[in-house]
Amino acid sequence: MYIIGKERLTNLMTDLAMKRLLFILAMGLLFNSTAQAATGTLNGKAVFDKNCSVCHSVMPPPKSAPPITPLASHYHQKYSTKKDGVNHLAAYLKSPNKDKAIDPQAITRFGLMPAQALPDAELRAVAEWVWDQYNPNMGMGRGMGMGMGQGQGQGQGMGRGRGMNQ
Ligand code: HEC
Repeated sequence: MYIIGKERLTNLMTDLAMKRLLFILAMGLLFNSTAQAATGTLNGKAVFDKNCSVCHSVMPPPKSAPPITPLASHYHQKYSTKKDGVNHLAAYLKSPNKDKAIDPQAITRFGLMPAQALPDAELRAVAEWVWDQYNPNMGMGRGMGMGMGQGQGQGQGMGRGRGMNQ
């Protein structure tokens, strides 16, 4: 009796310990992926600055390619999840193609984008960054739901000075 009772107790304790361990592991994974998402965003911007900003501005007016913010809106209109949007984006960067273009008119206007020979991880990071540039209310609303400490300041001054001697 006593032995069985003890065994059961030990089992129970092990069970609890396992559950607790799993819980801690799960939390760790969760935290880790959050941290990774944040780094991904940072890298994405760096990848953009290095490889894409020659042709793409973020906001209009365009350089030699459509600006990123309107492109991001196109993507958000067409794809309801970030995963689908980012998948298409990353694939397009790898092999641009008229049939897959989100905005075929852009090809008529600017020509087809050259394929971006970057490692997959960088393509994904920059694709996520492009997706995140969608900002319908300029930093309010939707942006807050996705907040993971990825600030996106976009200030716009409206000051109008007037001198005394006019
Ligand atoms: C040499 C100039 C050039 C560079 C460099 C370039 N692009 Fe482009 N990009 C274009 C042009 C031109 C278009 C419009 C025609 C098209 O869609 O192919 C375009 C289109 C796009 C589109 C719309 C794709 C779609 O689905 O229709 C995205 C998104 C994009 N570029 C992102 C990027 C990113 C991110 C980088 C850097 C990794 C990059 N571009 C580098 C010229 C460039």
